[in-house]
Amino acid sequence: MYKSISPSNYHVLHPRPVYLIVSRNKSSSLNVMAASWVSPVSDEPFLITVSIWRGSLTHQYISETREFTINIPSEKHVDIVYKAGTTSGREVDKFKLLGLKTVKSSVIETPGLDGMLGFLECTVVNQVEVGESTLFIAEVKAVHVLEELYTRYGWDLNKAKILLHHSGRGFTTPSKLILALK
Ligand SMILES: Cc1cc2nc3c(=O)[nH]c(=O)nc-3n(C[C@H](O)[C@H](O)[C@H](O)COP(=O)(O)O)c2cc1C
Repeated sequence: MYKSISPSNYHVLHPRPVYLIVSRNKSSSLNVMAASWVSPVSDEPFLITVSIWRGSLTHQYISETREFTINIPSEKHVDIVYKAGTTSGREVDKFKLLGLKTVKSSVIETPGLDGMLGFLECTVVNQVEVGESTLFIAEVKAVHVLEELYTRYGWDLNKAKILLHHSGRGFTTPSKLILALK
């Protein structure tokens, strides 16, 4: 038997990967926030979307410089991710609070985060207003991965403990690789 739940219960589409978005304003101040509403939307060119709440500092920074990095955390970063997603850069310097260090990007000015599984350099090409958020559509200009964790098939799931958000303080990580029949 199915049961009906609230049509606004978006958690039905979770768990889904969670990322740390680093953004920069025109004076080069940096901010970081957690985001799980991130998705690839085109292969060639490689375009992604990220849905960002209009009230966030990240929204203001991305609107100013039209670029950001998507950083891929692992299970060991769970507390950083939760804190980055429950505090605002309007109130606290999250880089100081969370002891975050940056790595230079190769194409854009906004840096990546040191110690993550990898990061993507993105520049905004379009945006769509959706409810209380903006869907930023961005082109991926460069991708960096920890070489020992990435194979020609993608992440080595035995080593790269990719973090997924479930609900509230709950997170999970992929537990096994399942191969479909040819
Ligand atoms: C696991 C997790 C995932 C989140 N995903 C998103 C998201 O996809 N989009 C969004 O706008 N906010 C998301 N948030 C909330 C923002 O991270 C939160 O509003 C943050 O405080 C914004 O920070 P800022 O004001 O410093 O930019 C998420 C929070 C958590 C904890």
